Amino acid sequence: MTQSGIKLYYKNATSEALDQEHGIGLDQLNAMGDRLTSSISKMNREEEDKPAYRSLPYDPDTPERVKELASNLQEQCENLVILGIGGSALGNIALQTALNPYMYNLDKSQRPGPRLFVLDNIDPEQMGSFLHWADDKLDKTVFNVISRSGRTTETVAQFMLVRHLLRHKFGDDGYQERVVITTNVSKAGALLQIAKKEKLACLEIPPGVGGRFSVLSAVGLFSAAMCGIDIDLLLAGARDMDTRVCCGEPLKNPAAIIAAINYYFYNHGKRISVMMPYSYQLKDLADWYRQLWAESLGKAEDLKASEVHVGPTPIKALGATDQHSQIQLYREGPNDKLFTFLQVNNFDRDCQIGPAPDSASELRFLAGKHLSTLLNSEKKATEYALLESKRPCLTVLFDRVDAYTVGQFIYLYEVATSFAGALFGVNPYDQPAVELGKEATFALMGKPGDEYEDFARKIRSVTDIDKAYLV
Ligand code: PA5
Repeated sequence: MTQSGIKLYYKNATSEALDQEHGIGLDQLNAMGDRLTSSISKMNREEEDKPAYRSLPYDPDTPERVKELASNLQEQCENLVILGIGGSALGNIALQTALNPYMYNLDKSQRPGPRLFVLDNIDPEQMGSFLHWADDKLDKTVFNVISRSGRTTETVAQFMLVRHLLRHKFGDDGYQERVVITTNVSKAGALLQIAKKEKLACLEIPPGVGGRFSVLSAVGLFSAAMCGIDIDLLLAGARDMDTRVCCGEPLKNPAAIIAAINYYFYNHGKRISVMMPYSYQLKDLADWYRQLWAESLGKAEDLKASEVHVGPTPIKALGATDQHSQIQLYREGPNDKLFTFLQVNNFDRDCQIGPAPDSASELRFLAGKHLSTLLNSEKKATEYALLESKRPCLTVLFDRVDAYTVGQFIYLYEVATSFAGALFGVNPYDQPAVELGKEATFALMGKPGDEYEDFARKIRSVTDIDKAYLV
């Protein structure tokens, strides 16, 4: 069977398509590629700097364990609820939007598995409304609690809420049957301890795999398998991309080109990187990318501990919707953005536009055309308009959107992030700046300890509403 695939098209970021001033020259791209050559070979060698996430597509055990658990639970499960946040939710959402139909949750005939809800927030209104709806459906509901650290406040708070509810309703056994924990088993986070003590089903996140690089682990695979997504095909796509991003010739390596072009333009005044899918299915992959790029590359210090404060700002937009909200800025505002379009060549479904009413003959040009033609024409039109304004554009072309191409895309961008980390000279796998806010939340929520009491007073002194400034 020949597989569909994805390809990167980068001419419209080069000086050939733009001009010397606005595009990257091939010599400059080559120079950037040369800087990446040693990182590529280091990151490909097992014993050196190969990041742990790169082994995920080759792990033979996790997909089997995930499929086994899914097949045990699927029959009794009409609703699958993910409790998780950041890297423990965005990949799940992206897979579901990309690989299941738009009306999946609402139309049983389009749904091979349970409805899926990803509650990646602690908004009381959202949670309250969900629990109100789910109240008489809890017997057919499974909660997958995902947290690599096993101690993220938002996720453990959600879990404590749901645990209480389920135990109250179904007793200990009934509660156990309805919860799956996904966590790192090499570090004893609170979730792992609870899972062991309360005998909850547990899926493992391998050590060293960071949250935003974890979608191809049990984090993303379990909900995908439950909802009928072909996880073997997803991983096959990632493996295929692995062979492409291992290529030691940077100009033949799509991850190296993405990293090099982004790095070049960042250093030429384009500090904002817009990802704009022309496909609703791909819209949440842009959200996933936003976290991957932002948390991995936005760093105060480089690898030598010098203060650098680097990092491109990733933005997502959706074609054609955001043509009517963002393009005015993108074309006429500051020339500070690099654009990456996601384009789909073959949509699984298509819709034909009906005839033009006699009273509106000026609409005849649309009659009989397909929406896919209109959408892809609008992508080209937007790209053309941006090029007229000297804005550099990349396109990732999807032959079609399926588990294989989505696996390719995810892996491509994960490795591009590692390469970009090497060019920026930062550690793409940590997120030290997130810690302060976490500690501040602990303090405000009354975590015991003198240091937290003092800290809480300090936070309140600057964040409590000062009436003198209230209008
Ligand atoms: O990418 C990351 O590391 C973060 O976004 C985490 O995924 C997020 O903070 C949630 O962490 P955890 O999975 O430990 O609950």
